Amino acid sequence: MTVTATESGTPENGASRAAGTDAPGAGRPAPSGGPFAPPRLAERARALADNPEEWIHRVRLDPQGRWYERVHQDADHEIWLISWLPGQSTGFHDHGGSAGAFAVALGALEEHRVRDHRAVGAGQVRSFGPDYVHDVRNTSDAPAVSVHVYAPPLSTMRRYDLDADGELVRLAAESADDW
Ligand SMILES: [Fe+2]
Repeated sequence: MTVTATESGTPENGASRAAGTDAPGAGRPAPSGGPFAPPRLAERARALADNPEEWIHRVRLDPQGRWYERVHQDADHEIWLISWLPGQSTGFHDHGGSAGAFAVALGALEEHRVRDHRAVGAGQVRSFGPDYVHDVRNTSDAPAVSVHVYAPPLSTMRRYDLDADGELVRLAAESADDW
C-alpha cells in the first residue's frame, strides 16, 4: 500500500493528559467480520511492516517519549507508525470501541496484559477486538518501530493502572480531540 497522509498526534499516548470526555467507544462498533475484522487488520499491519521502504524515511526517535505519526486515516480505519526507544512504553490502555492490530517492523516489543505478557518480535503481529486492554513496552536495549491499525479510527481511549491486587483501575479517558 501507499502511505497517503500524515498527521502528528498519538493513539497511545504515555504522557499524562487532562481527562477527556467519558464518551462511550467509537461512534460505530468495530466490525466483527469483513475487511476491518481483527485478522484483516493484522494483515494490513503486517503488510506495511514488511515494506519499510514505504515509510522508514518518516520515522524519528524521541528520547522524551515514543514518536508517532498517523500515516493514513479514512472513515473505516487509520494507521500509525510508532517508534520506541529502550524503556519507552504505553502504560495500560484500551482503544474504546475500536478493534486493532500492531506489527513490529524493527526491533522487539513486549505486550503486557493483566496476568501475562508476551514478546512480539520483528515480523510478528497482534490483533484485538474492542475494549482490549494492554501495555506495550520496549524492554530491549535497541530501538523498535511498529505499525498500528485501528478500525474504526480511535475516538476514545482509557488509561489504567494496576492496584495492589494486580487489578485494573480505570484512570483518565482521552478522546480524539486530545490528539
Ligand atoms: Fe494499544
